[in-house]
Amino acid sequence: MALSSNFLRTIRETFGEAGSIWLEQLPDIISQCERRWSLEVELPFEELSYHYVVPARRSDGKELVLKVGVPRDELTSEVDALRYYDGRGSVRLLDADPDLGVLLLERLVPGSMLAKLCSEDDDQATLIAAGVMRQLWRPVAEDHPFIKIEEWFEGLNRLRQEFNGGTGPFPADLVQTAETLYAELIRSAGETVLLHGDLHHFNILTATRQPWLAIDPKGVVGEAAYDVGALLRNPGPDIQRWANLGRILQRRVDVLAEALDLEHRRTLGWGIAQTVLSAWWSYEDNDENWRDLLPIAETMTTLIF
Ligand SMILES: Nc1ncnc2c1ncn2[C@@H]1O[C@H](COP(=O)(O)OP(=O)(O)O)[C@@H](O)[C@H]1O
Ligand SMILES: [Mg+2]
Repeated sequence: MALSSNFLRTIRETFGEAGSIWLEQLPDIISQCERRWSLEVELPFEELSYHYVVPARRSDGKELVLKVGVPRDELTSEVDALRYYDGRGSVRLLDADPDLGVLLLERLVPGSMLAKLCSEDDDQATLIAAGVMRQLWRPVAEDHPFIKIEEWFEGLNRLRQEFNGGTGPFPADLVQTAETLYAELIRSAGETVLLHGDLHHFNILTATRQPWLAIDPKGVVGEAAYDVGALLRNPGPDIQRWANLGRILQRRVDVLAEALDLEHRRTLGWGIAQTVLSAWWSYEDNDENWRDLLPIAETMTTLIF
């Protein structure tokens, strides 16, 4: 089984020892899935990050996708979110075994990513993403199994703890801004819904049931405006170097505000708070590129103040 050095590194950096063990077990996990669901897997998708994702053909000829990852709460939550969506705005889940860390998914064809459209027509890409969001956001029952955005934002407390109350290599102003905005936004949050939690341009694909569908939901509960944050800071890895970044971000906020009836300040506020949180997560996961997110957050602050 040939795995790229990038993929091996990401898994080991992110999951440490558990990641190395998982990599050793991966061929066997895939064989188990092939037997269990009568599949034959093909070659994996090219740009793997945290999961082994591979097209598969079932014995009845049906084309599916197998997604395999280190078993953990985040993967269980993806399963729960996909079950909840039941194909509305998102890919369909056919079966899953969260303990084994595997999901059997409908294959989206042609399956090309929204990221491709950004360079041609960013407004259009933003409108498409807004259409997908509208289908995904629905209320959840009181006893829902999902994590809340408040728990994610404990990341900013961990940042302070790590640096003894300071911000270490993180720009102090920016962290302070993120903390202040987060406090303001969470205090005044609107109705909470099930959010995708990571709805960027690589997680929206062309399909046949509908023109565009989401994949890879994190499943997190919070107010709708939260969910546009991932769209604002993507597509990586080089959006921070776009010469016209400020103008593009302003356009996106305007387009999203109009299409989804969101307030500009909340949209940008969540964008900033999340981009800083996301930089912390990257730092925490030993991602050497964690700094790349900072200029994006800085650019957003020039638009909100
Ligand atoms: N159901 C699917 N149909 C077609 N392609 C898919 C499907 N699920 C994932 N992919 C491809 O695999 C890539 C990685 O899948 P994703 O679920 O986003 O993994 P990760 O959680 O590691 O980001 C996607 O960007 C997409 O190209
Ligand atoms: Mg993804």
